[in-house]
Amino acid sequence: MTSLYSINYHTRAHKRDAFIEFIKSLLLNPFVLHTRPSFLAADSEETPEWEKKFAPATRTQKNSHCGEGEETQDENVKRYCEVLQCVEELIYDHILHQRQNLIELSRLSALVPSIGRFFTPLPLRNSFIRQDAKRAIAARRSVPPSFNDIRAVLNDAQVTAISSTVKLMTFDGDMTLYADGANFPPTSSLVRLLITLLHHGLHIAVVTAAGYPNSPAKYETRLAGLLTGFRSSSLPAAALERFYVMGGECNYLFRYDAARGHLVGVAPEVYEPEAVRRWSTDEGLIAGVLDVAEGALRAGASEMKLEGKVDVLRKGRAVGVVPKDGVRLTRETLDEFALTAQRALTSHSLAQSRSPPATTTTTSTPPPTVPFCAFNGGSDVWVDIGNKLIGVQMLQAFLGTKGWETLHVGDQFLSTGNDISTRTACCTAWVTNPEETAEILTELCSLLGAGEGGK
Ligand code: IMP
Ligand code: MG
Repeated sequence: MTSLYSINYHTRAHKRDAFIEFIKSLLLNPFVLHTRPSFLAADSEETPEWEKKFAPATRTQKNSHCGEGEETQDENVKRYCEVLQCVEELIYDHILHQRQNLIELSRLSALVPSIGRFFTPLPLRNSFIRQDAKRAIAARRSVPPSFNDIRAVLNDAQVTAISSTVKLMTFDGDMTLYADGANFPPTSSLVRLLITLLHHGLHIAVVTAAGYPNSPAKYETRLAGLLTGFRSSSLPAAALERFYVMGGECNYLFRYDAARGHLVGVAPEVYEPEAVRRWSTDEGLIAGVLDVAEGALRAGASEMKLEGKVDVLRKGRAVGVVPKDGVRLTRETLDEFALTAQRALTSHSLAQSRSPPATTTTTSTPPPTVPFCAFNGGSDVWVDIGNKLIGVQMLQAFLGTKGWETLHVGDQFLSTGNDISTRTACCTAWVTNPEETAEILTELCSLLGAGEGGK
């Protein structure tokens, strides 16, 4: 049935995160119900006697004494904390259900049907207190807790929760480690922070969509500032060699070689599992998927009258729409491209899985489904073969780390983004720029330092 509700839901779903919206709606209650209106001299002589009889006495009295002072603010913090304590409990209940394979039966699944897995509990209450000190959330009377406030609280809680178990951190590139389309600047505070994480024994991997087949030099150019930092650092080779780059979502793996001071390729046979090799070595199948994607993107460009304003670029494992110099595509246009390509490819793979195999003997195996990722990159749109979920999962298997030991930091967690898929494999932090990444890592480094001091 197509109700107005479902139309609204489907036209907005790609712009929202259901769990953050859920928390936002809960925090709106204390904001609306308990932020006191300032009564204008309600007990003055002008107030008729009959009105005073029914006026909300306790509020009037309290307000006249308390005004907008600290007491009110503390009360607000307390109420927000109560809500977040309840969300903490919902998450923990969800984790217990997950452990018994009963995820659909958790109360959180009933309240937020699209909710995924949690790999650690989240201490939201304490994180709120820390973020409130920075963002003055509870002090606000006109602006309720926002999407960005809640994202900051979730990031803080996730970093705190994983600090005692983390072994692998994966980072998106554009807008997470460096500006969109830019190279890693040598002056970035992230150079020192990433070196500190390596010093603490973590594995670090950049998991980026940028796909440059057999070309470590191109990745070295993008990561120049960081690699310069590595070469001049006093870290032992073993620590520096815990650094990896996974390019093209999951297609090309490189490792830092400290003796050479360069990235070197890792052969796919070393880290790709059989299930991935079945499609990754089938160039014909991959070309077929890219043909469908290219057709959908070209049709989109034509329907939106963008021919002449964009280029459609085809690579071995990707096809993208890139604006020509001086052209800026709106977010709506980019989302339209990404959603159209997603739909075309989903229908292509459904049709493939339903069509009978060429030979109809009972022993013939159907062709593998080629995974893909169609995403809005902020200023361009790409359809890549594979996705970051596979990239992170392969690194986890290769390095021997679990979901509660892995943290992926990225900027694209909406349904048209390319970081969202990693949520199935590990903990995540959602940033909007490299400065936020630095903030998170500063917190993590201080927790790791404190943990070491206590050992
Ligand atoms: P990420 O944010 O590090 O995942 O990088 C995404 C950006 O990389 C895209 O928005 C593109 O600008 C750029 N890019 C370069 N080559 C490719 C490719 O082959 N596939 C997808 N994105 C690419
Ligand atoms: Mg990005």
